[in-house]
Amino acid sequence: MIFRQLFDSASGTYTYILASRPGGEALIIDPVLEKVDRYLQLIRELDLKLVKAVDTHLHADHITGLGALRDRTHCITVMGEQSQADVVSMRVAEGDRVEVEGVRLDVLYTPGHTDDSYSFLLADRVFTGDTLLIRGTGRTDFQNGDPRAQYDSIFNKLLKLPNAMLVYPAHDYKGDTVSTIGEEKLFNPRLRVKSMDEYAELMNNLKLPNPKMMDVAVPANMRVGLHQDEVARRGWALSIDDAMALRSRSDIALIDLREKSEREKHGVIPGSLHLPYPQLPSEIGFGGILHELVAQSGKRIVFYCAFGERSAMAVQAAQDAGLKTACHIAGGIDAWKKANGPLVQ
Ligand SMILES: [Fe+2]
Repeated sequence: MIFRQLFDSASGTYTYILASRPGGEALIIDPVLEKVDRYLQLIRELDLKLVKAVDTHLHADHITGLGALRDRTHCITVMGEQSQADVVSMRVAEGDRVEVEGVRLDVLYTPGHTDDSYSFLLADRVFTGDTLLIRGTGRTDFQNGDPRAQYDSIFNKLLKLPNAMLVYPAHDYKGDTVSTIGEEKLFNPRLRVKSMDEYAELMNNLKLPNPKMMDVAVPANMRVGLHQDEVARRGWALSIDDAMALRSRSDIALIDLREKSEREKHGVIPGSLHLPYPQLPSEIGFGGILHELVAQSGKRIVFYCAFGERSAMAVQAAQDAGLKTACHIAGGIDAWKKANGPLVQ
């Protein structure tokens, strides 16, 4: 496995790059905007293709690199389903998986620091965001933080993992890089409490100043800006009503860009074809499935995904490849469901 831990000294943030092999797909966790050039350089040097960028939660102390990475690599942006961030193109929940080639992260919902805090689990290590830090825990006094929820996340989920499990947090301010679950059980001073009430009492009396960047970072991270806004300006977006009216026409090819797990969980628009988003580049050029479909049948390509972001990037890529009738369903399955559009499993 390729595993890199990178540090942003301004915010004390750790960012992680994971891949299974040189030349393969990569995933990044908690990227910082100011460090995006550095990440992309390393990804090029290691001959990787960035496919997913994940934030463990909405950060208050730095601006996320998710938007910039999306714009520069067209990667899929991933956060938990509670996230208020607009930039997210794939939302996950407890029990889901975040996968790229050869790497599978199990998703744990670990609220408390914020209500959108998640941890991500590999076989031998866990990325704990700001839920469990090295000899500390993330503060719980803003962004819908809740010390009781955090106690539950830490004691009933994270500390139930094997003692040898490596702990990689989103931050450290003392120079520590990694710990283990066993070490934190023994030596983390915040965890020397006898009850949830005692933990809440401890966390509610920390009296910490707000992070320097908080007033800038939280609004910036919630409104990064959407690709589908630009695609709509160019006239390549279908409203849900438009999409419903066109759905049964024979000159339309509906293409679902989501992953198999998302299709199983949320359902599929009847009659649509499946093409996972990461495979799109090879299918829109000469000789690709979509290129041939358009050339031979003259069908209009209608992409859709979970929220309309992957499909918006797909429309742009297809248009750039010469598929001039390509469009997408604005808002994706999320909007389709809210309008009671028909779905099949
Ligand atoms: Fe945080």
